[in-house]
Amino acid sequence: MSAPPPPALPPEAPAPAPKPKVALSLIRATGRTHLGNYLGATRSFAQLSAREDVRCYFGVATLHSLTTLSDPRALKRDIRGVVVDFIAAGVDPERAVIFDQTAIPETLQLSWLLSCLTTAGRLERMHHWKEKKDKLAELGQAANVGLFTYPILMAADILGPAADLVPVGEDQLQHVEFARDLALRFNHLYGDYFRVPTFLEREAVRVPGLSASGKMGKSEGDKATLYLGDSYEAQWKKIKVAPTDPARVRLQDAGHPDRCNIGGIHKVLTHLGLHEEGGMEWVTDGCTQAKWGCAVCKKRALDVMEEGFLREIRERRAAVEARGDGYIDEVIREGNERARARIQPVVLGAMERAGLITRWV
Ligand code: TRP
Ligand code: SF4
Repeated sequence: MSAPPPPALPPEAPAPAPKPKVALSLIRATGRTHLGNYLGATRSFAQLSAREDVRCYFGVATLHSLTTLSDPRALKRDIRGVVVDFIAAGVDPERAVIFDQTAIPETLQLSWLLSCLTTAGRLERMHHWKEKKDKLAELGQAANVGLFTYPILMAADILGPAADLVPVGEDQLQHVEFARDLALRFNHLYGDYFRVPTFLEREAVRVPGLSASGKMGKSEGDKATLYLGDSYEAQWKKIKVAPTDPARVRLQDAGHPDRCNIGGIHKVLTHLGLHEEGGMEWVTDGCTQAKWGCAVCKKRALDVMEEGFLREIRERRAAVEARGDGYIDEVIREGNERARARIQPVVLGAMERAGLITRWV
């Protein structure tokens, strides 16, 4: 006799949707954005914000900007500029929360709580502080305290909305670690409260400048920087005259064509999966065997970028700009409201834990 068949299983209950993770990152307002900003930051913001399982908060780090910017008019202009960049890169303001750090006073309140859990010695060991301080000293200037406590404000940015994921460049890793430590310290002193965030490294795409060996933007200056807001023609003009040195490249071993900056850009494109031929061979070949001139090579690089993302970014930017400052302000105002609604209760709760009474705050 065979065993009776096992009883039929009850129909499976649908699994509850997992709670979306919260991702948070801020960007300082620094003026015109270029290829490096996009590939290094806003592109991955757009990708994150398209995910169903992630809720994104992207801010303009206006308070952090004050640690180095001294021109108020430029700052005011650049705040909207960052928001336009987010949207142009493909962040949908209906899905992601786009906000201004300044509009969340609770972040400063939390920053104070956290500063009382931080020793000066710990801040003195931060790479960022040491570098900035030394650079200023070279110019004969003294660093301000805002620069010194910068990581505390950043930790408040991260812990305030109880972020799970913090997408930043590798240069910010130490700051995120610091925020993690502060969360643990607070939890240890006052009972488990803060989520301990995870560093989420943005896909590290280092874009070389068009003229030498430095990074695009900061170190390389205007001529070597491909601005996203420029027209295709303006971009081509810039790339076309970018100095290259095929002779030097030919002398390279064939595996490292990126001694030429344009070669470096080709490499970035390959890394992004934007080169239809899937590899660098055609650049190496074409270059080392002088099968083509640099103009052909450069044109090809620009066209791949144009089709891959530049046109789309330009179109989205034009569409946003056509709606005017009023629209951007509305995006920010709404984002501020949504961000504050999330952050305020978390911070008030932390204040209560620390022994403050928030009823009359
Ligand atoms: N310090 C960051 C930078 O320079 C900007 C920043 C401020 C930030 N607050 C943050 C990044 C919170 C991530 C989370 O790039
Ligand atoms: Fe650079 Fe291309 Fe010219 Fe070679 S052919 S030097 S990779 S631009």
